[in-house]
Amino acid sequence: MDDSNKAFAKNLNWSHTDPQAPYPQSNPNLDGSTVPEVGGEKPESTDEIALDRWFHEQRGNKRVPKRLEVANEVLVTTGGPLKMTGNITLIDEDGSVTHSNSLNLCRCGGSKSKPICDDQHLEIEFFDGGAVSQLSDWMPVSRPQTVTVTAVKNGPLKFRGYLRIYNKKGQECITMGGALCRCGKSSKKPFCDNKQGCAGC
Ligand code: FES
Repeated sequence: MDDSNKAFAKNLNWSHTDPQAPYPQSNPNLDGSTVPEVGGEKPESTDEIALDRWFHEQRGNKRVPKRLEVANEVLVTTGGPLKMTGNITLIDEDGSVTHSNSLNLCRCGGSKSKPICDDQHLEIEFFDGGAVSQLSDWMPVSRPQTVTVTAVKNGPLKFRGYLRIYNKKGQECITMGGALCRCGKSSKKPFCDNKQGCAGC
């Protein structure tokens, strides 16, 4: 597991309890020199700076996560995780909510830190070429978008919101919703085919 993946996993364990904040606190830039203070506090670790660029803005009476200029995309890696970037809201199986701009999501079914990849795909020798064969049903957009990903218990990663799913071979699918396989058994990877019972999720 490389350092960046460890950091992504660590980042999911939000523990900030600012009673004024309906969402976890976070930091807006990869470059620590340009990170503004949130609530008068500086980030505590380099990991937080590198991983969380969600921060808050005031809309009416609410403080809400601000959309940043980060494309909502998923890179389907060969034999590895779904590398997702964007303005992501992740809802875990237990209902916990995390906001992030970068996540490595397990798609082999072997992670001990689901839904986050912990490099178990190497241990179990997961292989998938990463083909993206589903066609787009949405046009590319340039405005910042949000996407909500729900890790369904014993099921796939359902998503709602603009998402470009692509691989390094030039295949892509732009869509506004769907389900991504996270047990590694779908015949339509990276999408769920609803045929395997998702027993490995
Ligand atoms: S894809 Fe990395 S642990 Fe499953």
